[in-house]
Amino acid sequence: MQEPFDLYSHAIDANPFPYYADLRKNHPCYWSEKGQLWILTRYADVLSAAQDWETFSSAKGNLIDEIPGRSGNTLGTTDPPRHDRMRALVNKAFAKKHLEHLIVPTVEIASRQIDLIKSKVDFDFVSDFSSVITVEILFQMLGLPAREPAKIRNLVVQSISTDKKARGRNDSHNNAFRHLTGFLAKEIAKRRQNPADDLITHLANAEIDGYRLTELEVTLTTSMFVIAGVESLSSFMSIFALNLADETDARHRIVDDNSLMAQAIEESLRYNTSAQRFGRNLTKDIEMHGQQMKAGDKVALAFGAANRDPRKFTNPDIYDLDRKPLGHLGFGAGKHFCIGTSLARQVTQTAMLTFLAEIPAFRMQSRELNWVSSSNFRSPLSLPMRIA
Ligand code: HEM
Repeated sequence: MQEPFDLYSHAIDANPFPYYADLRKNHPCYWSEKGQLWILTRYADVLSAAQDWETFSSAKGNLIDEIPGRSGNTLGTTDPPRHDRMRALVNKAFAKKHLEHLIVPTVEIASRQIDLIKSKVDFDFVSDFSSVITVEILFQMLGLPAREPAKIRNLVVQSISTDKKARGRNDSHNNAFRHLTGFLAKEIAKRRQNPADDLITHLANAEIDGYRLTELEVTLTTSMFVIAGVESLSSFMSIFALNLADETDARHRIVDDNSLMAQAIEESLRYNTSAQRFGRNLTKDIEMHGQQMKAGDKVALAFGAANRDPRKFTNPDIYDLDRKPLGHLGFGAGKHFCIGTSLARQVTQTAMLTFLAEIPAFRMQSRELNWVSSSNFRSPLSLPMRIA
């Protein structure tokens, strides 16, 4: 049977927005037979669920098709009080003032990639720009060697992909994740022997009230930084570039007045974010919109749908550079509000201003895009563009 919102259809990867509109209007608390989960799409519902971690628990995972072994062992897949202790260990490293040293390297990497792009004219924004910058900067912050950004992005994409036919993960997705964590575990072991001034060394040794992360927690939390950092950030930057290719007026205005960049990024996080949906599990029976939801049921919080709810944002399907979308859920909300927000904003802003200064006009080569097969993310596999 055709479902109004089929998590396992590729149409959702490319453009979930018309399907969200139907759910928000007609099925605000929708039971998906195929996904075996509830889907919440209205802003008020998604926000209150994200804030109520006691009812909407993350301890069994926050990916809709969760990666085996992660539950209970990472920031995103634990509840308080364990979650609070883990978060306190890393919070400082993600504070804005601790990230400023990454601005110069971001400009350098962006400039190197822009030279390459200008020598080609036709380019792929993902493999030539966004994924290279995110892998190199994130690995620098973590203290990892970023020798092959394309290979790393590929492992990350495989790790978070869904096999839509199988309605879940398959062996190649799990093998990719094992490969990624194997590589990280080796690097973490090296850092235990030779401590350095980086996030991995900090994670491996940090202690709060006698609490230290276990080996497994260090590896899986690092893998979460790699996955969240590389996937969410490079996809977001790519989607933002896609918006700017389409929204020529907005692009011209940002080129003329760079101070508009910050609000252009916020509006893109609302309009089109990469992190579309995350999972929770109910800890007790509840009722929403007349539906009886049972303890143990899985629920998807559709942040991307909430961000287009007309009850919250006027004309939500329009990308409006002047909107200043206060309260958007592009970075989630509540206890699990994205820890990488300052990093994501800083890297996107620095990289895109550097890009627009050298390449103020560009356009898509094709409207037919390939998207990562995912039940959580909206992520272009490649973005073929041409300097205009
Ligand atoms: C524009 C880029 C990004 C977007 C759109 C994004 C989005 C999100 C969202 C929606 C959540 C909430 C997940 C949930 O409720 O279950 C989240 C959590 C998280 N993000 Fe991001 N993120 C981005 C970049 C980053 C970066 C660069 C990092 C770090 C390197 C990062 C690390 C994390 C972590 C560790 C969590 C879990 C936090 C917790 O559970 O306490 N993210 N992100």
